[in-house]
Amino acid sequence: MAFDRSVKIAPSILAADFANFGAECRAIEAQGADWVHVDVMDGHFVPNITFGPATCAAIRPHIRGVMDVHLMIAPVDPFIAAFVDAGADILTAHVEAGPHVHRTLQAIRAAGARAGLALNPGTPATAAAPLLDLVDLICVMTVNPGFGGQSFIESQVPKVAELRGMIGDRPIHLQVDGGVDVRTAPAVARAGADVLVAGSAVFRGGSAQAPAVYGENIRAIRAAASGVYV
Ligand code: DX5
Ligand code: ZN
Repeated sequence: MAFDRSVKIAPSILAADFANFGAECRAIEAQGADWVHVDVMDGHFVPNITFGPATCAAIRPHIRGVMDVHLMIAPVDPFIAAFVDAGADILTAHVEAGPHVHRTLQAIRAAGARAGLALNPGTPATAAAPLLDLVDLICVMTVNPGFGGQSFIESQVPKVAELRGMIGDRPIHLQVDGGVDVRTAPAVARAGADVLVAGSAVFRGGSAQAPAVYGENIRAIRAAASGVYV
């Protein structure tokens, strides 16, 4: 299949009902989510803890499409096999998570997943330059990782544009993560992002029992990213 650079909405289940992940994943996909974004936090690399490979494996059967696993953990390497076995299609590690990110990206691909590289807001775009041949996705953090519902950091928009230029024709997705909503989506889409992660802005106001709201929220973000306001 040809590489798809059209805008994709990836709801982050960090904003879902943690007691109901299976139904939440089914609901967002039924309501138009392109990918499901899964935030793994260890209380060490980031000041919050979510869940690990066992939870990823448990929700995998409830996701038909792409399971996009964002590892906010350090170290990464000892856990790669467990997350790939859990069914991650894309496994994203942070450039800041250790001294050997090049090896980490090689190991992710060798384990059979697509490899993602995440950059914290304080990390320049050039950190990705030596790694472009090893990545399938670059994630620009538009908040400091650890929590949902934070404010979008505007200074990251030029970094998205810079990375888009660096990527050129390579089949690398450019993802933005944090504070993405109808107000911020146009700028990141214009800067060249093709995967928009959104937690609060997708799950706000809905539930697995009232999933139509998820659909409205997803459509509104997609429309904003396309320059159409609804
Ligand atoms: C932040 C996570 C994000 C987060 C986004 O550490 O990586 O995926 O869930 O949440 P919102 O969209 O609420 O900023
Ligand atoms: Zn994330």
